[in-house]
Amino acid sequence: MSLDFPTLRSRLLAWYDAARRDLPWRAAPGAASDPYHVWLSEVMLQQTRVETVRPYYERWVARFPTVQALAAAPLDDVLKAWEGLGYYRRARNFHRAVQEVAARHGGRVPGEPEAFRALPGVGRYTAGAVMSIAFGREEPVVDGNVRRVFARWTDDPAPAVDAQWRMAAALVPGERPGDVNQAVMELGATVCTPRNPRCGACPVRDLCAAFAAGTQNERPAPKKAKPLPHEDTAVPVIQRGGDVLLVRRPVAARLGGMWAFPQAIRHDAESVAAAAERAAAEGLNVAVRAGEALASVDHVFTHVRATYHAVRCTVVSGEPRAVRYDDVAWVPWARIGDYALPVAQKRIAALAGPHPLA
Ligand code: ADE
Repeated sequence: MSLDFPTLRSRLLAWYDAARRDLPWRAAPGAASDPYHVWLSEVMLQQTRVETVRPYYERWVARFPTVQALAAAPLDDVLKAWEGLGYYRRARNFHRAVQEVAARHGGRVPGEPEAFRALPGVGRYTAGAVMSIAFGREEPVVDGNVRRVFARWTDDPAPAVDAQWRMAAALVPGERPGDVNQAVMELGATVCTPRNPRCGACPVRDLCAAFAAGTQNERPAPKKAKPLPHEDTAVPVIQRGGDVLLVRRPVAARLGGMWAFPQAIRHDAESVAAAAERAAAEGLNVAVRAGEALASVDHVFTHVRATYHAVRCTVVSGEPRAVRYDDVAWVPWARIGDYALPVAQKRIAALAGPHPLA
């Protein structure tokens, strides 16, 4: 079945003008938007919902209002502002990319797709979104919402990625390409939702093959979730006086650049206590003795499920050095909040320390 793109376009734009959410990064209708702000919002919105992003976005813009301000900020401050949003590689890449914009593009976000795509972390989704929304270019976007909307329009249980991008490229040319792209994403977020879509409120239901067939709830068909591998990780909570030892993770690692407790994945048949002592020996070149078990915290990452087992430890001999880390710091419990910690590490700190954290 072929889609009537001109009709879809004009209906979507009319619907978007009436129903679009008022979001802090969206310019008033007809006004130009700030490319840095649009870019930031699109990076934050990857993997994260609008309502979660909103307060982060507002704090960020107050803290780093311009390309120059962000480019000059230390990575620690950038990660602290991102703390809790997850997928921290987005923040590191965005920071690096903005530094490149400051150094090589005179502080102006490039409006040419090739130059923009060459920046760290900029893939075709980010490029399409920023080029169309901030620069009015006829560049397509496909994200999870768009994929679902298209799968329903075509009643396709398993749409191929390339076909979806071709469809987006067929839809976008014409007036207001950024608004057309945002209208499809908005429709997916607010009307054409994964479960129980509100077809009665949809401006294009008469053009939707899944609506005609009554299959909208089955489109696209859910992908079979692969079970994730599981890691048991020992976490030595090494205390000295009122201080606890934190490490800064190597930038290239998972959660790179973030502060955390030291850790080691438990080997088969190894006890958590032994793994905690090994974590200190290998990662910090220090001998510790494992004591009381403090807490266990689960966290699901993209490719792995982890269970962190926190164990109170004391130093037996040696002074911790950042052998497998980028830095180490003895931190008073009350100051842990100054460091950018991933969610699971914050929970460990809250459960293991004397000071409950926010
Ligand atoms: N999801 C990601 N970016 C979006 C945007 N600009 N509008 C609506 N939903 C989005």
